[in-house]
Amino acid sequence: EKGGYEHFMLKEIHDQPKAVRDTFGTHISEDMSQALFSELNWEASDVDSIKNILIVACGTAYHAGLVTKKYIESLARIPVNVEIASEYRYSNPLTDSSTLCIVISQSGETSDTLAALKEAKRLGARSLAITNVVGSSISREADQTVYTWAGPEISVASTKAYTTQLVAGLLFAVYLGQLNGKLDAALAKDILIGIHELPELIHTIFEVDEDMKAFAKHYGFKTDAFFLGRSIDYAVAMEGALKLKEISYIHAEAYAGGELKHGTLALIEEGVPVIALATQEDVFDKMISNIREVKAREAVVIGIGMKGDEEIAKHVDHTIYIPRANKFIAPILAVVPLQLLAYYAAITRGADVDKPRNLAKSVTVE
Ligand code: M6R
Repeated sequence: EKGGYEHFMLKEIHDQPKAVRDTFGTHISEDMSQALFSELNWEASDVDSIKNILIVACGTAYHAGLVTKKYIESLARIPVNVEIASEYRYSNPLTDSSTLCIVISQSGETSDTLAALKEAKRLGARSLAITNVVGSSISREADQTVYTWAGPEISVASTKAYTTQLVAGLLFAVYLGQLNGKLDAALAKDILIGIHELPELIHTIFEVDEDMKAFAKHYGFKTDAFFLGRSIDYAVAMEGALKLKEISYIHAEAYAGGELKHGTLALIEEGVPVIALATQEDVFDKMISNIREVKAREAVVIGIGMKGDEEIAKHVDHTIYIPRANKFIAPILAVVPLQLLAYYAAITRGADVDKPRNLAKSVTVE
C-alpha cells in the first residue's frame, strides 16, 4: 500500500503529480481560457455580493489559506482575511452577509475548523469548503464544496493535500476574477496553462531528491533552521518550517525576508541553516539583499530559485532550481524540495516519519 516507498510521506510526495492532475480535472476549459466550476455554477452577481472573504483553517491548511489570499487579492481584487480556526471562533468576528467564508481542511473533520464554519454561518456568511473527503462533516456543513482529489493522505505530515489545496485555491481565484472582470484574459490563460503543466513540472523537481538527502545528512543534526521568503514565498516558508519541525523535531522558524532585522537576526550565526526562497520576481532583488544579510553572519544558505534566475547562486552556498513558471504556480513547485528536506531530515534523525510524536492525523477535539 506504500507503493514500494519506505514511508507514506514519501509515497504521498510522489503522488503529487497525479493528485494535482485529478484536482484540476475538469476545471480548465479545453482552450485553457476559462476556470470552470460546474459544482458552484456562480454568476457575476454571486461575486458582486461578496465584499470580503474570510479563510479559516488550521496547520498546513492555514498555510494554503495564506497563499490563497494572495491569489484572490491579486486576481480578483477582493479583500481576504486568513484566520486560524481556533482563534477565529473566539474573536467576536466582523463577519456578516457580505462575507464569503472559505474553510480549507484535508480531512473535513477538524473540530476547530468545523466550529469556525458554524460561527461564520451563524453570523450570516455564505460558505464554501475546500476539502479532500467527500461527505465529510465540513463538506456537509458548508453551503458549497470544492473537492481536492489528492486521494487518501495517510502520513500525518500533509504534502499532497497542501499542493492540491493551492491548485483549488488558484483555480477558484481565477474563477472569481473572470466572473467579476478583474482578471486580464492573457494572465488567466497563462495561469491555466501553468496549472495544466504542473504534473510534469513536479515530476522534474523529484530530481532534487539526492541533493535534499545530502543536505539533510549535512545539516540534519543542527538544532535550528530558518526559512525566509517574501510575498507568496513567505507563506511557503511557513509551510517548510512546519514540515521540518513536525517530523524531524528540528526547531525551525519562518521569517518574512524583510522582517528578520526587526526580530531574530541575532540568532543567525555561523553554520545556522537558512533556506531562502526567491521565486517571486517582483521581490527578487529584495530577497537577494536579505540573503546577503544572513550570509554576512555566516549562515549556511540553501537558496530555492527559478531556473533562469542564476543570480541567486552567487549569494548562497547551495542552489536548488525549480522549473521556470508563472509566479502563482511557483509556490506549488517550491514546496516540493522543502517536503523532501523535512522527510530526509527526519530519516537522518531516526524519527518516525509517518507518525510524529504527539500528533494525530485528524484533530477532532478542540
Ligand atoms: O484535516 P485538516 O486539513 O483540517 O488538518 C489541519 C491540520 O491539523 C493539518 O494540516 C496539520 O497541520 C498537518 N499535520 C500538517 O502537516
